[in-house]
Amino acid sequence: MTQSLIPPGQSLKRDPDAFLGRTVHDLLSLKGRTIVITGGARGIGLSFAFAVAEVGGNVAILDALDEPHDHFYKWQEDFPDQTIKLYKSDVTRYEVLEGAFNEIVKDFGRIDGL
Ligand SMILES: NC(=O)c1ccc[n+]([C@@H]2O[C@H](COP(=O)([O-])OP(=O)(O)OC[C@H]3O[C@@H](n4cnc5c(N)ncnc54)[C@H](O)[C@@H]3O)[C@@H](O)[C@H]2O)c1
Repeated sequence: MTQSLIPPGQSLKRDPDAFLGRTVHDLLSLKGRTIVITGGARGIGLSFAFAVAEVGGNVAILDALDEPHDHFYKWQEDFPDQTIKLYKSDVTRYEVLEGAFNEIVKDFGRIDGL
């Protein structure tokens, strides 16, 4: 038997005019959000970081490399108001990964996507 999530006698409260106060861009924006990208110091991961930046997000990269690809620094030039940070890490080692995630939360205050 299925149970309604709406208590008896109440209806779902919806504001039919809410859409007038926001744009499709607002709905798709990652402004103020933090996205974690594994293996993002180069290659597909770093390309994805640029995509996140284009829609306003901040990026925390976990990678085993000591030095990221040169494009990492271009990101910083192109999106000076957004943060990208590289955390040297190894995604196969739980304790290393846990430490990196704790640092990200400390630095960015939140994680919204991985
Ligand atoms: N499905 C597809 O069509 C498709 C196409 C291309 C690539 N890929 C796959 O996507 C992945 C990424 O491709 P790429 O070209 O960006 O590769 P890449 O080698 O350029 O980048 C991978 C990154 O992961 C990092 N890394 C590797 N092991 C790590 C670990 N243990 N901890 C943290 N970081 C680690 C590397 O240092 C590197 O920076 C690969 O697995 C590749 O096979 C899939």
